[in-house]
Amino acid sequence: MASPLEPGAEKLRELTEACARFVLAQLADLDRQPAADVEGAAEVAASFVEAAPEEGQTLEALLRRLGPAIAKSYNTAGPGYLAFIPGGGLPTSALADFIACAVNRYVAVVQAAPALARIEETAVRWLADLMGYPASATGILTSGGSLSNFSAIVTAREAKLPQDFSRGRIYVTDETHHCVKKAARLAGFPRDAIRVVPVDARRRLVPSALADAVRGDRERGFAPFLVVASVGTTNTGAVDPIEEIREVARAHGLWVHADAAYGGFFRMVPGGERLMPGIDGCDSITLDPHKGLFLPYGIGCLLVRDRKALLHAHRESAGYLQDVEGAAGTESFADLSPELSRDFRGLRLWLPLQLHGLRPFREQLREKLDLARLAYDELRQDPRFEMLDEPQLSVVAFRLRGPAADAEARGAELLRRVNARGRVFLSSTRVDGRYVLRICVLSFRTHEDRVRDAVTALREEARSLSA
Ligand SMILES: Cc1ncc(COP(=O)(O)O)c(C=O)c1O
Repeated sequence: MASPLEPGAEKLRELTEACARFVLAQLADLDRQPAADVEGAAEVAASFVEAAPEEGQTLEALLRRLGPAIAKSYNTAGPGYLAFIPGGGLPTSALADFIACAVNRYVAVVQAAPALARIEETAVRWLADLMGYPASATGILTSGGSLSNFSAIVTAREAKLPQDFSRGRIYVTDETHHCVKKAARLAGFPRDAIRVVPVDARRRLVPSALADAVRGDRERGFAPFLVVASVGTTNTGAVDPIEEIREVARAHGLWVHADAAYGGFFRMVPGGERLMPGIDGCDSITLDPHKGLFLPYGIGCLLVRDRKALLHAHRESAGYLQDVEGAAGTESFADLSPELSRDFRGLRLWLPLQLHGLRPFREQLREKLDLARLAYDELRQDPRFEMLDEPQLSVVAFRLRGPAADAEARGAELLRRVNARGRVFLSSTRVDGRYVLRICVLSFRTHEDRVRDAVTALREEARSLSA
């Protein structure tokens, strides 16, 4: 008896084409869709609470239900999404996922699919080249920046601390992404293992303060072992002074990890090395292709200069894997990362980079830096806005001028009104405990018209708020 789990070629073609039509319709009018629309989203969400059906339904019926679920959301794929950290989601990467899932080969151990594993390794190598890493460096693809930072902390811990690592200390700033703290906890460190180093007026770690903190901790019998430099903070896009941080680290034997999840790929633009000098000398780097390379959510990267350190931190062996254990030097991704079975995520990186080449990525990233500068130049001319800093990368952070007492309420109301217009979607944050609005330009679909829409909306709504 034919099973519906094994549809014939014709049926599968029909299903594939229905999905392709659905996706094309979703993407066709992205620029006219609201930048966010969650009105009534709770009802749509509630409609999905149901028991698993005993009998199957048609794909058409299911896609009809999926449409509103997609629509009632922040439009993270659209050009108006300037909140948090955008990316967009290259459709050509989605095609790679389709192929990877459909052929369902196993890439976590080299022996199971040597050429596919080599594709992934090559794509990681390209990212290492973009960061100026030597050929001896290695890396893994993860599900995102949080997991990359987690593996970085474990790798540094294993490289620098004894088995009892309870006295280990990690140095960050208030601007470091919160996933670093979470990762430290998951890696077994108590909360007070995280030391917060002061930042300067541009929200960058102060190296002399790092040196003082490390010395003080050593004197008290702690074991400083890791400093995390942000290469593009989420709040304001600030880039820590990596070279000076490395000098302090060298003097005290610390591992330097660069969290470049948001900012790292800006190194690709012509002259981009000057945006983050010294990143190529860090012990490890987190990158997020689902941010700066515009890939769909679900792909991060950890690069490590010393392959042995990554291997030492992650390798385990087991009898049932003896048939696929390689010789030294031919380690599999499973030996270098926390994961065993997983998707073939290298293809979603490799395919678009091969298909389009690096040039359009460099151009897009250059454009994002220019657009952030444009938004900054426009907003600073308006006396209603106080700019926190010139953009160091593609984040513009600002607040409404006016009495401190209701600054937060007015800022939140401005954000609500701008977002309610539907053309752009912005988000807010806190810097030094104060309410701050921000624009982050990072989607490949965002161009000048949309950034000008954001500026116009901010100016008009700020004027009407103060009227
Ligand atoms: C600087 C930085 N680090 C780490 C992360 C976490 O990355 P992910 O959301 O991919 O886990 C982010 C996310 O925005 C980030 O901006």
